[in-house]
Amino acid sequence: MREQKKSTMLQRLKLGLTGLAMTALAACGGGSETADSGTSEITLPVSLNEVMVALINDAADPIWAAMWNNPQTDRDWRQLERLAYQIEIGGSLLVFPGTGPLDEAWTSNPRWRELASQLSQDGARAVNAVRSRNFDLMQRAGDQLIETCETCHREFKPDLPTMDMFGELPQLPPVSL
Ligand code: HEC
Repeated sequence: MREQKKSTMLQRLKLGLTGLAMTALAACGGGSETADSGTSEITLPVSLNEVMVALINDAADPIWAAMWNNPQTDRDWRQLERLAYQIEIGGSLLVFPGTGPLDEAWTSNPRWRELASQLSQDGARAVNAVRSRNFDLMQRAGDQLIETCETCHREFKPDLPTMDMFGELPQLPPVSL
């Protein structure tokens, strides 16, 4: 009798926990649904400026350096391949708004999306060049990459550089795009 009571308690407890877990799941699901109804289905947890500095620029620097110092070892080449992938991924991320003050404006601009996709393609091209260990192709991919960075900066980068990416984002006036 007592044993039975104990087991029903346990059962109830288990049921209660399952219920809780379900509620938590439902809450999570509800949250992402709300995000889905926005302009974009995905929102990045960081600003696009941070994507730029921490991912894209960080990957691009050694790629250009490699154009002067031909990679020596297999390890160098593999590292270079990963960096090229980071450019490809970085470009694809630029179409999703993050926490930056101008992110929404940028990502909803078709020209921005075009340049972001160009950056991603440049990354893919660099991946192929590195994979084929073709120095000439790599150089061409690198040149194309610089061109894409510069074009987008000319068209979109605010006059005030925001190098201090871990500090406050500057209060920029909304740009007319
Ligand atoms: C689709 C447009 C776009 C492309 C492509 C792009 N950038 Fe940017 N980049 C920006 C914008 C806009 C900012 C300014 C962000 C801000 O101030 O919030 C920026 C900022 C930066 C910064 C931060 C420093 C500063 O002066 O604000 C660096 C570094 C940078 N970009 C490097 C690169 C490199 C390297 C590439 C190419 C491999 C590249 N970017 C490609 C749009 C782009």
